[in-house]
Amino acid sequence: MSKSDRSWLPDATDFDWIEGTSRAPHAVLLEMEAVAGPEGIPILSRDSGRMLAVLATDRRRVVEVGTAIGYSTLWMALGQPADGTIVTIDPDRDRTGRAREFWRRAGIADARITVVNAPALDAFADGTPALAGPFDMVFIDALKHEYPAYLDAIRPRLAPGGYVVADNVLWSGRTSGSRPARDGDGTTELRELCRRLSSDPDFETTILPIGDGLLVAALRP
Ligand SMILES: C[S@@+](CC[C@H](N)C(=O)[O-])C[C@H]1O[C@@H](n2cnc3c(N)ncnc32)[C@H](O)[C@@H]1O
Repeated sequence: MSKSDRSWLPDATDFDWIEGTSRAPHAVLLEMEAVAGPEGIPILSRDSGRMLAVLATDRRRVVEVGTAIGYSTLWMALGQPADGTIVTIDPDRDRTGRAREFWRRAGIADARITVVNAPALDAFADGTPALAGPFDMVFIDALKHEYPAYLDAIRPRLAPGGYVVADNVLWSGRTSGSRPARDGDGTTELRELCRRLSSDPDFETTILPIGDGLLVAALRP
């Protein structure tokens, strides 16, 4: 399909077929999905979770900005090599405490996941040892207006060949302008992140239209 050919786009039948063809998510992921909705805890889409697991298959050292109850963390941990590690940052101790219980019940050894309970920019700035890096992959999913600052903090810690992955870059249509943005809602910074990574020759970057938009950028080795 060429850039201008939109005569066919996948519809609900296609999405149902993809889901039916895919391996069922781990039972603990299904439990997390069941609690997140009713409790209003924002987690990424299942499609994006599957993509994170694929990307993580050869990523031993991962850092995540925005843990919540650990749904995206668990997708990555299940996709990683058995000795893979994740450092995940979220100031909300209640949510990360629940996340730890879910990870244990999914059979992930405690030693594989380190939680940093602090605002991410503070944690990167204050020399938190767990965040020294280098990292093979970063997943960004916290405050939208801080996305470019997360990139600044992470870039020197990214190993050659490392991935930058960011959720919500479509921001329900606000980033492209298909829906109106509001001042201070993070749209400006999401556009900045996408523009910076897409125009940086050191990165190969794409935006997948799954979930709320998943940016994937690979740092050239
Ligand atoms: C969208 S949720 C993360 C969802 C999670 N990645 C998932 O898909 O399962 C965003 C999280 O960012 C956390 N957060 C808020 N401010 C933050 C900050 N300054 N640094 C890091 N995380 C922050 C919130 O507490 C919230 O749990």
